[in-house]
Amino acid sequence: MTILIIATHDRPDWWARELERLAPEADIRVWPDIGNPDEVEYVLAWRPPHGALAALPNLRVVFSLGAGVDHLFSDPDFPAHVTVSRVVDPYLTAGIREYVLLHVLRYHRNQPALDQQQRDRVWDDRARELRQADEQTVGILGLGELGRDSAEALAALEFDVAGWTRSAKDIPGITCFEDRGGLDAMLARSRILVCLLPLTPETEGILNAELFSKLPKGAYLINDARGGHLVEGDLIPALESGRLAQATLDVFRTEPLPADHLFWDHPQITVNPHNAAITDPRSVAKQIVGDIARDRKGELLPNTVDTSLGY
Ligand code: GLV
Repeated sequence: MTILIIATHDRPDWWARELERLAPEADIRVWPDIGNPDEVEYVLAWRPPHGALAALPNLRVVFSLGAGVDHLFSDPDFPAHVTVSRVVDPYLTAGIREYVLLHVLRYHRNQPALDQQQRDRVWDDRARELRQADEQTVGILGLGELGRDSAEALAALEFDVAGWTRSAKDIPGITCFEDRGGLDAMLARSRILVCLLPLTPETEGILNAELFSKLPKGAYLINDARGGHLVEGDLIPALESGRLAQATLDVFRTEPLPADHLFWDHPQITVNPHNAAITDPRSVAKQIVGDIARDRKGELLPNTVDTSLGY
């Protein structure tokens, strides 16, 4: 059994070490040293080069090394018959939860203004807005594995949480909106908007000027999904006109964010290097080895992706 790791951006040696430990009988190869391509049945991939998967005629399963799978489907030669499995991992979910809580709380507590006061040596206790958590409306775009978990964590802190998904969901404690019709209603009530959607042709560019205009004036944006969700040219005008107050971005259309990008030193934008949640090989490799054993027995795999939906 041959497993190939294609993860040039994601510490391939670490993945190889974990797989060798957990599946000593397997033949583990690391891109670009693929050996005989006919032998490769399983691939662990993060942003594989276009065409790399199509060149493996006996490939059975691709394991995405992240929750998102857009990095696979953006390959025009992606082999449609192959099973795609994505990471669902408690550590990854926890990483996103921590990130969402950190930045929602930071905006809820008006921390960016307080940071500025410190730089200006100003003591003004009115800069901490008096709005209780249950008066703070948070909207989550996407109530999948990650969105639902973050929504519930915010609700546990008493925030007034709503979520929006393509198909109807019923989650205790969360006001759920669905489909295009529900989107405007959710936006209208969301002072803090968090994007945790999968990137698909339907969600590409969803964070744009029109969407911003439907939020309460002075809303906050947190994008922890994909850079492709945001129309980058619409963000700075929305911030500078006061339509949005602040934005926190962990993901960008081009990563790493180019050194001359305007987002880097815009006072209303927080830039993070796509590290809200890191896929931890110590826990995820164990799941992958278990899934490979299931596949060898002809069993269905959990966490497979519906290739027609793209998530
Ligand atoms: C990271 O961005 C992931 O998809 O897990």
